[in-house]
Order: sequence, then structure tokens, then C-alpha cells
Amino acid sequence: MELERLLRSQGFGSRVECRMLVVQGRVNVAGKVCADPFEHFEPAGLSFAVDGVLWNYREFAYLAMSKPAGYECSRRPQHYPSVYSLLPQPLATRGVQTVGRLDQDSTGLLLLSDDGQFIHTFTSPRKKVPKVYEVTTRHTVDDAQVMALLNGVELHDNAKPVEAVACIRLDERRLRLTVTEGRYHLVKRMIAAAGNRVEALHRIAVGGFCLPPELPIGQWIWLESPELELLAQRA
Ligand code: URA
Repeated sequence: MELERLLRSQGFGSRVECRMLVVQGRVNVAGKVCADPFEHFEPAGLSFAVDGVLWNYREFAYLAMSKPAGYECSRRPQHYPSVYSLLPQPLATRGVQTVGRLDQDSTGLLLLSDDGQFIHTFTSPRKKVPKVYEVTTRHTVDDAQVMALLNGVELHDNAKPVEAVACIRLDERRLRLTVTEGRYHLVKRMIAAAGNRVEALHRIAVGGFCLPPELPIGQWIWLESPELELLAQRA
């Protein structure tokens, strides 16, 4: 692939902008400045640097972020900064999107990608991908609430009751809740329908992949084959 086209595919701007990066000597491939925008490289496995920052070529981008509270999962946020502001510009430019959404005040595992098939798999209700949340509630959780969540609660936009596939009480006011849908405010509405209220919501896993506990809040990592396999195990 021509270097200029390769850089464009990785989010470094228009063809003209990528050409300028190359002719200005800002692009390094295999440790050497490459000033020819039309030089061909095999993209698979290629490492390159732009302005000294190292990148690996990726046909698709798959990321996991530890979402902080106070960020919106929108490109045009209304009241809070966007989670996209936490990504380097090339990732936003190449069209990376959040895989589903977390509310502004929710925290934890947020997947992002520019692979449409992947986004569909992890957001389609028909795929029933489990999403695991730690929920802090305002009031003490009782057995009746746990049973209501497991048996299914009525939500106004769903004909059938919505069930948690698992619900474990962690302590008096904390639950670990697993759901396979991803509708608007789903967990908050389920907890309200069970007679309690969400005070804090933290997603710890999607499919078979858990948020790495060592990942600092607001940071992200690339998902490589082992993590993608974990995700797919339960998708
Ligand atoms: N359910 C909610 O209510 N909010 C979220 O952010 C995610 C799931």
C-alpha cells in the first residue's frame, strides 16, 4: 500500500494532509525517515512513527477504555466532555465509535471500534452479549428485589418483563448484575422497577472480557487477539 494511503487509513487526515506529513519528513518507517508518499509497504505488521509517536498498522481498531464519570458517549456532547476527547486524534479521525453507550455518570468498561460488524455483534439485542455491572444502590437491597430482577421487571418500552441473567448481592447496597440488552438507562430503570435506585453504576465486563483493574480511569488500551477471543467467547 502507498504510504500516503496507509496513513490515511490509520486516521492521519486527508490524502493531501498525509502526503504533507511524509514530504515534511515527519514519518518514519522501520526506523528510517520515508519522504516518498508513494513508496509501497506491506501494511500487515507494519510499525511506523509520526512526529516520533509509534503506531502499528491495524486494519480495524479495537479499544477498551476505563470510562470516567462526567463524560458523554457522544461526538456532540451536550453538557459534559466527550469520551472521544480522551482518544488521540487519529483514532477519532478514522471513525472509531463507542460500542453502545454508558451514561454520563456511569463508569467502567467502554469498548470502541471502527469495525461495523464488531459493533453490530456487541450491540445487537439478538446476540445477547452479557454485560456485567456493579451497582451501588441508594437503599438496602432485599431478597424480594433480587428475585424481582431475576424473574423480570416491567419496563414501559418493553412488552415482556426484562430479566437479569445473574444478580448477586455483594453487600447491603451493592449488586453485581448481568444483563444481555443495552437499552437506554436499562439498569437504572430495572433497579427502579424493582423498588430501589442506582447511586453508582460501573461496568466490569462485556462478553468474557473484564476491565483490567490496573487500567487507570480515563485511559484506554488496544484489544489484541487474546482479548478479542475472550470477548467473542460469550458473544
Ligand atoms: N444501564 C444504565 O442505566 N446506564 C448505563 O450507563 C448502562 C446501563
